[in-house]
Amino acid sequence: MKTHRLAVIGGDGIGPEVTSAALSVLDAAERRFGFHTERTALEWSAEGYLRGLKVTAEMIEPLRSYDAILLGAIGHPDAPRGQPEHDIIFGLRRGLDLYVNLRPIVLYHDSLTPLRGRTTKDIDLTIVRENTEDVYGRPVERSGPPGDETVKSEMIFTRRGTERIVRYAFELARRRRKKLTLVDKSNALRLQEIYREALAAVGAEFPDVETDAMYVDAACMWLVLHPERFDVIVTTNLFGDIVSDLGAAVAGGLGSGASGNIHPGRVSVFEPIHGSAPKYAGQGVASPVGAIGAVALMLEHLGQADAARAVDGALREGFRADRIKGVDAGSGRTMDVAYAVARSVREGAA
Ligand code: IPM
Ligand code: MG
Repeated sequence: MKTHRLAVIGGDGIGPEVTSAALSVLDAAERRFGFHTERTALEWSAEGYLRGLKVTAEMIEPLRSYDAILLGAIGHPDAPRGQPEHDIIFGLRRGLDLYVNLRPIVLYHDSLTPLRGRTTKDIDLTIVRENTEDVYGRPVERSGPPGDETVKSEMIFTRRGTERIVRYAFELARRRRKKLTLVDKSNALRLQEIYREALAAVGAEFPDVETDAMYVDAACMWLVLHPERFDVIVTTNLFGDIVSDLGAAVAGGLGSGASGNIHPGRVSVFEPIHGSAPKYAGQGVASPVGAIGAVALMLEHLGQADAARAVDGALREGFRADRIKGVDAGSGRTMDVAYAVARSVREGAA
């Protein structure tokens, strides 16, 4: 039997709850499709940081021996701002060179979108966010006397980093509706011209994929007014962060979204896009939909495409049959939702 080695980082707040809920769906997928995962729990969290358990670069390195990592959420109100993000989130993304942040925007049920008159057919796109470059997580240089300081961080893009993310997006678009939109701000941030160059250079290898390019402000407007015009969006780290929350909102809220931090062919990290939501922790009311979606993305990465489709199908079926009533906290009990999806995976109802 095929065995995949998984590391599981439940993290903070609702993270551990939604992760174990999602793992019960994974159990069902394993039984139905005949594979096995060997799971190792890692106690990494912002709360751990407060207890003196700091995650260092040396601790990230050994994770290369796993096939995938499932992450819940990292964040604690008492942790110094930016510290757990730096150590754990950017530590994983940069440390493991997970250059793709894949964020599918899927509307599971017509009732979930705040956009009037839109249905599941209108909202089905994927954001490919560059995950290792940009101004993100860069050191800050501070100069000048108190009261008259200047702070500075560098925004960096490399040809290699730009072309590899654009290529990934083209390959994805080729498997979907063959439409790729570059989102940048190359009129004001002139260095982002490198993305236009990459789109043209790599695009030559994909004559079957239609491309266009949009400034990020306009893209936000189009996402709200005409989400149906998008298939795959490729964008920078900073803009991808912002646009993906807007995308998630269009699909019903942060609770709906899943993401993969991916280096194709290497260990990659899968997580719901919501945060640790401390006020809902420990009550069993957090929605596991994002975490279950993360399991589906992880299965795809592990080469278990049938299982990935079954989990995704079971989520959709759950909404269709009204067994899943929403993606916000309190729209259902965490484990009730997970068991309903797991049952559907097991029975092949999807
Ligand atoms: C995300 C999050 C992170 C990011 C934060 C927690 C640093 O917002 O995954 O989108 O900005 O990348
Ligand atoms: Mg974000």
